[in-house]
Amino acid sequence: MKNIILIGFMGTGKTAVGRRLAARLGYRYLDTDTIIQEQAGCTIAEIFKRHGESHFRELERSVIREVVQSQGCVISTGGGAVVDPESLTLLKKNGLVICLASSPEKILERTVSKKGVRPLLEGQDPLKEIKRLLNLRAPYYEKADWTIDASKKTVLQVVSLIEKKIKAGDVGADSG
Ligand code: S3P
Repeated sequence: MKNIILIGFMGTGKTAVGRRLAARLGYRYLDTDTIIQEQAGCTIAEIFKRHGESHFRELERSVIREVVQSQGCVISTGGGAVVDPESLTLLKKNGLVICLASSPEKILERTVSKKGVRPLLEGQDPLKEIKRLLNLRAPYYEKADWTIDASKKTVLQVVSLIEKKIKAGDVGADSG
């Protein structure tokens, strides 16, 4: 059973969708951000503050190396994971990669209330930063096997869409 890997920008619903999708399919659920925090014994915001983004990316890469050893898992990744070439290659090689996409405005709406959680959006103008990063990351998100526009869908609608496609064999999560 191939893994199902969720990629996409912050605030697109990867965690909520991943958790429910795993429950519906009877897959194990793994979240790279959660594992990084467990292993580091502190929050992502603290890792960024103490050691910087490049150290965080190293931890993220190492967790991705670990999680892709598993099979039959739904794996949610942090929004910037795919920018790292090794992480992207590992994810592509070890699962069906689904990108959750959303509009900058919707992303802002979903992230703004959670202060102190996403260090990359803590600046003066988060909407501008969201647009800048989305632009920069677009070529990496495009590497997904399948992209879902989640901006006007509920978590349950996204989960059902993925479940239907997988069960119909359209995206081949059970092959390979
Ligand atoms: C990041 C996204 C975050 C987390 C970290 C960096 C990013 O995860 O990994 O704050 O670079 O986009 P979510 O996408 O789950 O918010």
